[in-house]
Amino acid sequence: MNVPFYEKLWMWAAGVLVVAFLATIVVGVAGSALQPPSHVETIDPTKVWNDPRFGARGVTDDAHGVTVIAVGMMFAFVPNEIRVPAGRPVTFRLTSADVTHGFLIVGTNGNTMVVPGYVSQFTTVFREPGEYLIVCNEYCGLGHHLMSAKLIVETGGARP
Ligand code: CUA
Repeated sequence: MNVPFYEKLWMWAAGVLVVAFLATIVVGVAGSALQPPSHVETIDPTKVWNDPRFGARGVTDDAHGVTVIAVGMMFAFVPNEIRVPAGRPVTFRLTSADVTHGFLIVGTNGNTMVVPGYVSQFTTVFREPGEYLIVCNEYCGLGHHLMSAKLIVETGGARP
């Protein structure tokens, strides 16, 4: 088969791009511990407040580790102040009581969509103590820009 030089060049260039794009996914997952939102667990969005999984919102620290239970709604996160220890894995479990929201912890890799009908879960570690801003990064209505919360990462969180 006789393929002209320039056609070969472009075929190789396209091939290199495909490999490069796949590599970004591998680097994101393996290197930066990015995880896709786990939209596998469902919930009735009209009964979020009565659902036992979201009945007690806030932070728990027990045998399962540090878990944050929070609900997104127009136009707030409940709770709107979250305190977690530095240097330990923190699992966030989130859902929405109305429309699709976002949950981005600015300056960290904590970022997921919060979709009504599903429980979004991710685990991350905060190495730097301090105050972090949580914002909604999915347009959810007129008050979207007001939808925020505070994450406080505290030192001395490591248990013996
Ligand atoms: Cu909630 Cu934008």
